[in-house]
Amino acid sequence: MSTSAMRRYRQTTAAQEDLIGDRGTDRLDLDVLFGRAAPRRLEIGCGHGEFISQMAQAHPDEDFVGFELDHLRVNKCAHKCLKLGATNVRMYAGEAESLVARLPDAAFRRIYILFSDPWPKLAHRRRRLVNRAFLLELARVAAPGCIFVFASDTHNYAMQVLANVSTIPGLWRSLHPAGYMVDVPVRFETVFERHKRAEGCTIMNLRFERTLSRQADTLRD
Ligand SMILES: C[S@@+](CC[C@H](N)C(=O)[O-])C[C@H]1O[C@@H](n2cnc3c(N)ncnc32)[C@H](O)[C@@H]1O
Repeated sequence: MSTSAMRRYRQTTAAQEDLIGDRGTDRLDLDVLFGRAAPRRLEIGCGHGEFISQMAQAHPDEDFVGFELDHLRVNKCAHKCLKLGATNVRMYAGEAESLVARLPDAAFRRIYILFSDPWPKLAHRRRRLVNRAFLLELARVAAPGCIFVFASDTHNYAMQVLANVSTIPGLWRSLHPAGYMVDVPVRFETVFERHKRAEGCTIMNLRFERTLSRQADTLRD
């Protein structure tokens, strides 16, 4: 979307504000935040909000937390959710690394990272979000049996995630026998997915299950 098209999201409406969380650093109490104790899903890097808004609409009995670096996109995500009548979403603007640190242990039954910024240049790959430390933090906030989905058209990023998972054995079990699958149809296509498919890219899909073997309070090493 062009910069001019994004201008309309510079202002946050009162209705959008209800779906957008604070910029503090305190640990989040999700039961208080949503006013109920429901199953929860987390999306990191929500972009324009196609996925989280439609998932939230499709699962009104569950609650959704979304993290997105760009605050204009956060407003847009909130706008999309409201348009679909999905008020079971709370969006947070900021760096996923610090936002995940605010989450309680074992809180989510699904985690999605779809088309994470690829940082394709070799010298920039260390900036990629899903590194070993981040996978450890995700393991902390994932409930036992939680499914973590990672999709990317940048194949060396997906392979890097697989390699990183192998360095923390006992936390994440791959649900794909070969470690990955290609061109798995997803329920709700994201903007980047649509663009990449149109370009003819092959999309790699990783799917892991949080194992039961280690307790969350031992995961800070
Ligand atoms: C390539 S886009 C993909 C967006 C969306 N998931 C999709 O598939 O259309 C990556 C998104 O992640 C966000 N992002 C990048 N680094 C981030 C970080 N450290 N924390 C939170 N969001 C981040 C970017 O702002 C961008 O919206």
